[in-house]
Amino acid sequence: MKQRIAPTDKEWFLPEGETIISKTDTKGRITYGNGILLEITGFSEAELLGKQHNIVRHPDMPRGVFHLLWETVKAGEEFNGYVKNLRKDGGFYWVFANVTPSYNGRGELVGYYSVRRKPSAAALKSIQPVYQQMLAAERAATTKEAISASRNVLQGILETKGVSYDEFVFTL
Ligand SMILES: Cc1cc2nc3c(=O)[nH]c(=O)nc-3n(C[C@H](O)[C@H](O)[C@H](O)COP(=O)(O)O)c2cc1C
Repeated sequence: MKQRIAPTDKEWFLPEGETIISKTDTKGRITYGNGILLEITGFSEAELLGKQHNIVRHPDMPRGVFHLLWETVKAGEEFNGYVKNLRKDGGFYWVFANVTPSYNGRGELVGYYSVRRKPSAAALKSIQPVYQQMLAAERAATTKEAISASRNVLQGILETKGVSYDEFVFTL
């Protein structure tokens, strides 16, 4: 079961040049986390290992972003995106995440791997209104239609700008 943590407004920053690394199995359960992950989340290794990665999910994150993440990595491609994460104490930290599928020597999927860096302040300023629009669309829609409503908002923004999702996130 996922613990319920009350989010606070206290922001934490990933130090410049540091990377948060984690690995999951094919179902998204954490199989490895580096020291920086433990430090910034405040969770112990024992608290993280075997848990779903949504243990650090922040309620300000639109579901549509995670839908896109899973759709992308399940298609064998790499996902890049800005993620607001929840700490054990309710605080938060933003990352620019890269998530990729991992394969064994026989080419079989064994899990997923994620490396996260500190995002620029300018990128966060641009992405936050996008996420707010996606969240608003999710809240206005029925549970069943929330994801498509959210993805449509993102798609509409990309079409207006005339860019792909990756072009968008890498030029923020
Ligand atoms: C390798 C990997 C890393 C992930 N890292 C995060 C993360 O840092 N924060 C997060 O909220 N979700 C992360 N996810 C996505 C979660 O698995 C999950 O889809 C997301 O938290 C939404 O959870 P929910 O569907 O229960 O709302 C990651 C997934 C994978 C495969």
